[in-house]
Amino acid sequence: MSGRICIVTGATSGIGLEIAGILAQKGEQVIGIGRDRERCARACAEVRAQAPGAKVTFETADLSSLAEIRAVARRICRAVDRVDVLVNNAGTFTVRRHVTPDGLETQLAVNWLAGFALTGLLLRKLCAAPRGRVVTVSSGSHFAGRMHWDDIQLSRRYNGLKAYDQSKLATVLFTRELARRLGASSTVSAYAVDPGLVRTRIGAKGGGRLVRLVWGIRARKGIQPRQAAQAVSYCALDERVEGKSGLYWKECAVVQPSCRAADLLDSLRLWELGEVLSGVRYPEAKQMRRQRRVYSTPHMPDPHLPRSQPHSPV
Ligand SMILES: NC(=O)c1ccc[n+]([C@@H]2O[C@H](COP(=O)([O-])OP(=O)(O)OC[C@H]3O[C@@H](n4cnc5c(N)ncnc54)[C@H](OP(=O)(O)O)[C@@H]3O)[C@@H](O)[C@H]2O)c1
Repeated sequence: MSGRICIVTGATSGIGLEIAGILAQKGEQVIGIGRDRERCARACAEVRAQAPGAKVTFETADLSSLAEIRAVARRICRAVDRVDVLVNNAGTFTVRRHVTPDGLETQLAVNWLAGFALTGLLLRKLCAAPRGRVVTVSSGSHFAGRMHWDDIQLSRRYNGLKAYDQSKLATVLFTRELARRLGASSTVSAYAVDPGLVRTRIGAKGGGRLVRLVWGIRARKGIQPRQAAQAVSYCALDERVEGKSGLYWKECAVVQPSCRAADLLDSLRLWELGEVLSGVRYPEAKQMRRQRRVYSTPHMPDPHLPRSQPHSPV
């Protein structure tokens, strides 16, 4: 199927910009999200130039703000009758502890909570697609991460890497729990993707000169953003990922995430925390499994559309 409606967060630079380009070149409709209006305009022009004739638009929203996440979700819900693909790609790294307008530690807020909230707010539209997909860009850094339940916002002992690792572990736990709640027969699937080490500026944006220098040296060993974007786009579009919801992917293959990412209690606890912090309430798991009835809307495609193989349990 082509002409899918795809949303890509953090589409103004790095991997997200390349994902937007790849999806547009494949004939999909792309709605990019970025935090800065001018950068959105530049990225939009760049993606359109790569894929003349493609339907590409950008929305401005700072995903560290829950109010802006709600506002952009509302705009998207008004603009489209379904969302085929949501790529939760936006991410940030900050050496020093920053707090969002909602009083949350920024890396946790942008890297995990924004994806959690946006997915929840767009779930109805994802369910209205014949095959909705939520692709969340995670990281191999999650292997070093753990959930610091006694101080989840690291307000006592902040360390930039510790915060990043925790936020990326949260994205894997989120993906797994989302798939579990949706259930094996859901039309919506969720994937976490590790893009590998990639030559972008992520590590240079949130620190001083020394951090930029260290990241610059490290990033030189990384792959090009286009290559990373291809692996993410694979989970967004390829038929071969059907039936593998909730899993963790690298280089277009399922790989084992850390043991901590398989902790069911942590994923339940994190889910509850996500709902409390964001104020976005998902339907109960039982209801989510009956999503076709729960989300029945006049725009919905035929509920008797053929289904692929049932998703494997996660
Ligand atoms: N590069 C790597 O080696 C690597 C490895 C593993 C995982 N990742 C993950 O890959 C994803 C993409 O990162 P990247 O490497 O491509 O870095 P990047 O070039 O810095 O891209 C990050 C994107 O997220 C956007 N963003 C950051 N904070 C935002 C906010 N508050 N609201 C809205 N958008 C925001 C950025 O916007 P601006 O353009 O305005 O900055 C940018 O478009 C991230 O989730 C990152 O954690 C990267």
